Amino acid sequence: MKSQPIAVALLVAATALGAQQPDAGIPQLRKQGTATQLVVDGKPFLILGGELGNSTASDLERMRPMWAKLRAMNLNTVIAPVYWEFLEPREGQFDFTQVDSLIAQSRANDMRLVLLWFGSWKNSMSSYVPEYVKLDQARFPRTEATRGQGQEILSPFSAANWEADARAFAALMRHLRAFDGSRHTVLMVQVENETGMIPEARDHSPAADSLFARAVPPQLLVYLERHRDALAPELRDRWAARGNRTSGTWEDVFGAGVHTDELFMAWHFAQYHERVAAAGKREYPLPMYANAALIRPGYLPGRYVSAGPLPHLIDVWRAASPSTNFIAPDIYFPNVAEWTEKYTRSANPLFIPEARLTPQVSVDALYVFGKHDAIGYSPFAIEGASTEQGAGAALARSFGLLAQLAPLIAQHQGRGTMTGVMPAAGFEGTVDEAPQTISLAGAEYTLNVSFANPPGPPTAAPATADGPVSFSPGLPGATLQTTQTTRASSAPRGGLVIMLAPNEFLIAGTGMVVTFTPNGAGAPIAGILAADQVHYEKGNWVRGLRMNGDQTHQGRHVALGTGEFTVQRVKLYRYR
Ligand code: DGJ
Repeated sequence: MKSQPIAVALLVAATALGAQQPDAGIPQLRKQGTATQLVVDGKPFLILGGELGNSTASDLERMRPMWAKLRAMNLNTVIAPVYWEFLEPREGQFDFTQVDSLIAQSRANDMRLVLLWFGSWKNSMSSYVPEYVKLDQARFPRTEATRGQGQEILSPFSAANWEADARAFAALMRHLRAFDGSRHTVLMVQVENETGMIPEARDHSPAADSLFARAVPPQLLVYLERHRDALAPELRDRWAARGNRTSGTWEDVFGAGVHTDELFMAWHFAQYHERVAAAGKREYPLPMYANAALIRPGYLPGRYVSAGPLPHLIDVWRAASPSTNFIAPDIYFPNVAEWTEKYTRSANPLFIPEARLTPQVSVDALYVFGKHDAIGYSPFAIEGASTEQGAGAALARSFGLLAQLAPLIAQHQGRGTMTGVMPAAGFEGTVDEAPQTISLAGAEYTLNVSFANPPGPPTAAPATADGPVSFSPGLPGATLQTTQTTRASSAPRGGLVIMLAPNEFLIAGTGMVVTFTPNGAGAPIAGILAADQVHYEKGNWVRGLRMNGDQTHQGRHVALGTGEFTVQRVKLYRYR
């Protein structure tokens, strides 16, 4: 076989570099209470990540100077693509140069990696497939938006397509096992990238049409029956509307229309993912996931990248692809709370591989770790950020805080003792800054969080960039009032809260004023026993400023300044 010399040479090279076998510390997913943790080298690991722009990892010499900046932003993980076109330039001949350089540079900079397999699909298209695939449409068929009109989207219905992809992906994972099996630089792998159909919800090739006219696979119907009470509401309702049929064609079971077209494609895309992911896992069983482009309000299947790993299709993906450990959202819209809620339905672990790089990422990161026990958070095109200003600077402060708190966060994941809080944003970017309450089970106090303008750092002038502030007079528990109601250039506000004891809380974040209300019978007024600014060193807390006097509005509230990311440890008592 022509390909042998290169494959063998590269295998020998890997061995000479010190081939390693996977050990017990291999990155893996583990349940803790209701959470799923990523465990690496035996310890929970929170991914404080950033994803590289698509082409950055194609010239790793140019990457070299970027690592220092990524470290300065307090990242511990870089999310980077591996390109099928580089990995298998000629059929059966594998070249691991790109991935090896990526790993070597990561290790030299004490950074972990999540690899993105840019295989058959990238943002629905098949632009990363090797030339031998692109140039042979007869052997590697494509989808057809209308009959006879091919798209640059490989058909999920072709065995030749998935076999070629699975073979290359298996070669990658085999190589990772040898090269990284005991170092664990690579934590997880994303299989494909934003798989889906556009601008039609369904492939209209003869192969697709003929399968569409056949019965829904029993494997899917059995899954639906078994999980009837836990299905995503959209699918549950669609199935129920046709009488929960347990046999029949796609249109018999789910009705005619673009939603059913999408379900059909989701099944076949997910099966294809399964074949690729399973082939990779047989070689080296790292956690694997699939990511999705999200949907604009009111868009029907066909207008967005349809049939991908979206929350309304999670059951189809789960039934077809058990090797996909979870599905992940790429969040470019402001309604982060809404999408993260959808992606955590039915215990899907939350990992955000991509987010639009704005200063808001600094609070969104705190929110998803606090509220949803996230595995990780990672803004996109991170190498373009500045550590001096804007999103990069804000992210550095927020990730710095998360890095400090990571052991504590890991300890509280899945136990109901932690949450996240931030003003809810709508799709159009409108922000509801109404105060929110936090009631954690077992807590002796409810937290009332307002996003009014709290004072800046204790040593700074009292006015903030958002305008002057004034204190409401008198009553214990009264909160800070703003004299300004519109905030065109509002700084991000929010953070996370951990209950350390029924009367003790850790509040981390920015731009929040918190008052407290006692729960249950007893003295009715909450007072602050002590509030300290703290930081954490190797899991132990170190006291900074004692917050009292003006900084607590003479004992009435806890305030975290806007524009800075701080942590306060607050102990409460009650009186009458
Ligand atoms: C989402 C994709 O997954 C990324 O690879 C990149 O194309 C971004 N969109 C660009 O905004």
